[in-house]
Amino acid sequence: MVTGAGNGIGAVIVKHAVKEGYRVAAWDVDEDAARAVAQDVGDACVPVRVDVADEESVRAAVDALPQPPALLVNNAGVVRFGPLLELPAADWRLAVDVNLTGTFLVARAVAERMIAAGGGSIVNIASVNGLAAAPNAGAYTASKAGIIMLTEQMALEWAAGGVRVNAVAPGLIDAGMSDAIYADPEVRRLRSARVPMNRLGSAADVADAVLFLASAKAGYVTGQTLAVDGGITRSALNAMPRPQSVDSVGVAPGTDPVGDGGPG
Ligand SMILES: NC(=O)c1ccc[n+]([C@@H]2O[C@H](COP(=O)([O-])OP(=O)(O)OC[C@H]3O[C@@H](n4cnc5c(N)ncnc54)[C@H](O)[C@@H]3O)[C@@H](O)[C@H]2O)c1
Repeated sequence: MVTGAGNGIGAVIVKHAVKEGYRVAAWDVDEDAARAVAQDVGDACVPVRVDVADEESVRAAVDALPQPPALLVNNAGVVRFGPLLELPAADWRLAVDVNLTGTFLVARAVAERMIAAGGGSIVNIASVNGLAAAPNAGAYTASKAGIIMLTEQMALEWAAGGVRVNAVAPGLIDAGMSDAIYADPEVRRLRSARVPMNRLGSAADVADAVLFLASAKAGYVTGQTLAVDGGITRSALNAMPRPQSVDSVGVAPGTDPVGDGGPG
């Protein structure tokens, strides 16, 4: 089961999952988009209209599943930008309702069925914005940080029921809700250059990590958040200015580690 399956990253997760042999329920509030994705992948995918923030809608769709899913990917998400001092409460609520409460409602309803069936795997799509604050993204960052702690909580509560729960935190991804940002080639170039791996991520990078966490290869992994970010959340000190002499402090005298003829 993949939520937010009609566009961007979710649609690519569906395609990768089908390639790996899953039959997929593609959930989205945008029914036409989910249907288009299903048509693209053929018989192995069933589109369903579900609003993940609406408990009744979620319950009805989970009850209608012919069998408990082996894998749930909570991917549906929205972003609303604005400085906290000016952010309309409605924008805050929408981000928290869809991203955090939606993840909770869907995961809880599905986990109940997974536990009854002996187990399963849940992967929640967080964001590097749940690990680091970003300009004008307060509602989104708080909702995504919430998903990371909710992942730990669910992992703890459902481990004994055989359900593993992990999260993927995508970085600067060239897909979906970021399309508008990367349509500007200069922003694209400048942002890529800030990533230690010197490129934006793709939806396929995210899908690969999701399917790894879902697989038996991650069979003893639960409660973790895997950043799929080319190193950006570990690069706070990367561009730190420093005198060249500092690079060779502590190196044995007479050696020339940087090959510039300077002090060893
Ligand atoms: N694209 C990025 O740069 C990026 C980076 C980090 C994390 N993410 C996360 O990845 C996930 C997918 O994002 P995307 O970039 O593919 O965005 P997207 O906007 O292309 O896709 C999101 C999908 O969620 C659906 N959706 C929205 N509200 C819903 C609701 N209430 N119920 C059901 N479906 C709903 C939308 O209809 C859409 O199909 C999101 O959780 C997002 O926060 C994206």
